[in-house]
Amino acid sequence: MDNELKIPRHIAIIMDGNGRWAKKRHRPRTYGHAKGAKVLEQILEDADDLGVKYFTVYAFSTENWARPYEEVKVIMNLFREYLVSSLAKCMKNNVRARIIGDRTKLSPDIIDAIRNLEETTKNNTGISFQIAMNYGSRDEIIRAVRKLVREEREGKIDASEISEEMLEQYLDTADIPDPDLLIRTSGEERLSNFLMWQLAYAEFYFTDVLWPDFNKEELIKAIEKYSSRDRRYGKLK
Ligand code: IPE
Ligand code: IPE
Ligand code: MG
Repeated sequence: MDNELKIPRHIAIIMDGNGRWAKKRHRPRTYGHAKGAKVLEQILEDADDLGVKYFTVYAFSTENWARPYEEVKVIMNLFREYLVSSLAKCMKNNVRARIIGDRTKLSPDIIDAIRNLEETTKNNTGISFQIAMNYGSRDEIIRAVRKLVREEREGKIDASEISEEMLEQYLDTADIPDPDLLIRTSGEERLSNFLMWQLAYAEFYFTDVLWPDFNKEELIKAIEKYSSRDRRYGKLK
């Protein structure tokens, strides 16, 4: 591997393994989620320091509602706290924060906190930070298609005009470039319904490290691996 570190413009992470991390410590799964939220704060700063411009994390999937009610409740409470505590940090570090996923299914106070965080940070010019909450790629595409169909019916667009670029503008990630590198922790090697459209040409990196143990050193390892990859996009080199 050559030593030159190519910093991905956009890194996406499936933060997995919180439950197993807690179990190893004979603690409730929710203890792992609390530690995972702290690790996220640090990794966002590390990614920013390394020069990453867009950073997207999977926090809660459309499928995660099927977990026990108590666990879902704790995750929602952590998210609630996170939305508030990250506001000052985002302002201090010039971070623009956005939430992707179907927020209409979240509690009204969480929806307000999301709006407040997004509005307050929208003119920040530093790293762009996306949190996927009640996010599912299939759900996102369905919501986009519904909007397109509605606009077609209203005569605002014509079906023959629909292109990849146009559909992208209806996704939750409109105006955010596709991820260059996807990291998934905890040894699982699947997408679990995360950014399926946007990851079409991303490089994938899997590590056995559990999310609560992830740190800057592990992030750099992933970027080193990414730097050694040859991205061909279907062409010859
Ligand atoms: C990821 O950790 C966080 C969420 C899905 C909310 P998990 O809770 O999936 O942890 P494991 O995979 O059970 O260890
Ligand atoms: C994916 O992790 C979702 C998040 C990290 C938020 P899961 O732990 O829910 O995924 P599966 O069930 O192992 O595929
Ligand atoms: Mg998991």
